[in-house]
Amino acid sequence: MSQLTIESILQEKRLFHPSAEFSQNAQIKSLKEYQQLYDKASADPEKFWAELAQQELHWFQKWDKILDWQPPFAKWFVNGKINISYNCLDRHLTTWRKNKAALIWEGEPGDSRTLTYAQLHREVCQFANVLKQLGVQKGDRVGIYMPMIPEAAIAMLACARIGAPHTVVFGGFSAEALRDRLIDGEAKVVITADGGYRKDAAVPLKEQVDKALAGGDVTSVENVLVVRRTGQEVQMEPGRDHWWHDLQQSVSADCPAEPMDSEDMLFILYTSGSTGKPKGVVHTTGGYNLYTHMTTKWIFDLQDTDVYWCTADVGWITGHSYIVYGPLSNGATTVMYEGAPRSSNPGCFWDVIEKYGVTVFYTAPTAIRAFIKMGEHLPKARNLSSLRLLGTVGEPINPEAWMWYYRVIGGDRCPIVDTWWQTETGGIMITPLPGAIPTKPGSATRPFPGILADIVDLEGNSVGDNAGGYLIVRHPWPGMMRTVYGDPDRFRRTYWEHIPPQDGKYVYFAGDGARRDKDGYFWVMGRVDDVINVSGHRLGTMEVESALVSHPAVAEAAIVSKPDEVKGEDIVAFVTLEGTYQPSEQLSKELKQHVVKEIGAIARPGEIRFTDALPKTRSGKIMRRLLRNLASGQEVSGDTSTLEDRGVLDKLREGA
Ligand code: WTA
Repeated sequence: MSQLTIESILQEKRLFHPSAEFSQNAQIKSLKEYQQLYDKASADPEKFWAELAQQELHWFQKWDKILDWQPPFAKWFVNGKINISYNCLDRHLTTWRKNKAALIWEGEPGDSRTLTYAQLHREVCQFANVLKQLGVQKGDRVGIYMPMIPEAAIAMLACARIGAPHTVVFGGFSAEALRDRLIDGEAKVVITADGGYRKDAAVPLKEQVDKALAGGDVTSVENVLVVRRTGQEVQMEPGRDHWWHDLQQSVSADCPAEPMDSEDMLFILYTSGSTGKPKGVVHTTGGYNLYTHMTTKWIFDLQDTDVYWCTADVGWITGHSYIVYGPLSNGATTVMYEGAPRSSNPGCFWDVIEKYGVTVFYTAPTAIRAFIKMGEHLPKARNLSSLRLLGTVGEPINPEAWMWYYRVIGGDRCPIVDTWWQTETGGIMITPLPGAIPTKPGSATRPFPGILADIVDLEGNSVGDNAGGYLIVRHPWPGMMRTVYGDPDRFRRTYWEHIPPQDGKYVYFAGDGARRDKDGYFWVMGRVDDVINVSGHRLGTMEVESALVSHPAVAEAAIVSKPDEVKGEDIVAFVTLEGTYQPSEQLSKELKQHVVKEIGAIARPGEIRFTDALPKTRSGKIMRRLLRNLASGQEVSGDTSTLEDRGVLDKLREGA
């Protein structure tokens, strides 16, 4: 994040209070109530969570012990038996919610579908039986590579129902990225669709699965299940591939939820880190259910009359926690939209809000910045008066975008919850509770009750007001990731050893830099590691560099980010070429396309800069800091004494 933005956020003095009416009806009604909850939770986090677990969720069997903490490995609700699919579906069927809309779905071409709790339950049970029929058993991993259609949520809930951990791979990832994740997660089955609609095109998905499975590197996958969505032509391999609708015809709709151990794995979700390949973040059942349930209830202030819409994709953690599990566990109505704003309909989000009377709307700062560019006339042309609460996630929001969101979308009446969290944390960690905590544009405000967040220096000492430092969490929480799939050592190294434990007390290192003001409000500045955030999506510099280097023309590559008005950050790649290759416009295009093929369109570099050499230290480490300066057109600042060859820098400057 640029120095300039940090400065402007530092000067932000505006404070926005929820209206008295909002607070009166809210789940948490005042700052005092929040503070009491927070203090109670901090004094005895285990007791706090256990009381909520008892009150809010259905357990087949109660736990023996609330928390078993063998740092950095936590177990919550030890020996408790629970099923998140049961909590999201079955328990609502014995209430008036049986015929309430659970899922409202809008397809990009304008088709739509609404599933009540009873209907969703039936579909999930049937599909769970399909999986069982194919030999999927408790503990088997299932890959999900789907467009934003109801079957994506049905597949997730069906996996959870029979205890088969799912691993959802974002439909925008390439066949190569999908293959790596299927191999690492040892998926037995892949669920996909022929294709999905995105920006007026039918994007092929089954074809990508075929490519991922071709070559025989993925040895674990036995079957592929295909939803017919677009009707585009696909190859079906006999014996391996099956149509979802064919298999569903012959199964029963009776499938009791499997009692799962609280610590049984619920899902793996891959996310980028600073080194090597994406890591498989493992979440388990009981703690994740409780954490997503409570955060959804209090942060989105769910009321039974709400129509709640989170615009994320199910391929990301936000889709898992806040489209599917959190809202359904609460018996809410959750909206799912297949499409994206596009030139044929740039106002489609506002159409969806108007059509369904959306009351709570949760989106990303990058989307808001894109809306600002498209112009106020689009939202102004729709009736958005149903909205009562807005949210953002994914990256720091600049105060200008916050103000626009507040004024143009929220009509100056809707509180905004700026929610800080990560794939690893399972749910929202730092956030306003909208009826209780006054907001400041650009700040995620205060930690959720039970979350002991702090800002520290590298030794782990808390820093003072307004001093920058590393964002950490001092005590385990139910939604935390349990390990990196197949690599517990990486889990320990990445999250628990950057800040050395003090007196045996381990702290969770989030990888973000932050500051806390005198009111105790957190201001998250962005990543402090080699992870970059493009349009709210995490990418490891190493991943993109490896993708570039796998092209025959590339000898070496270094990725840095530069500020971008809409994406937040954009990728600049510094590339040195193998002997016979010459820089050209054509090669630049080819390299960008190569990254898209290896990872997906989200990783396409905005700019490729060819250079003879990269600036390195004497020990051979690339000095990204210098490249960052160059990429964003700034003077190279700071110490350059460790640079091996100063001439490299001069040449790079000339080339810029
Ligand atoms: C960033 C997304 C500032 C942060 C849920 C974090 C944010 C990373 C915010 C996690 C926010 C997310 N303010 N920064 N409100 N929300 N981030 O795993 O750098 O895709 O570490 O999870 O996004 O991204 P992830």
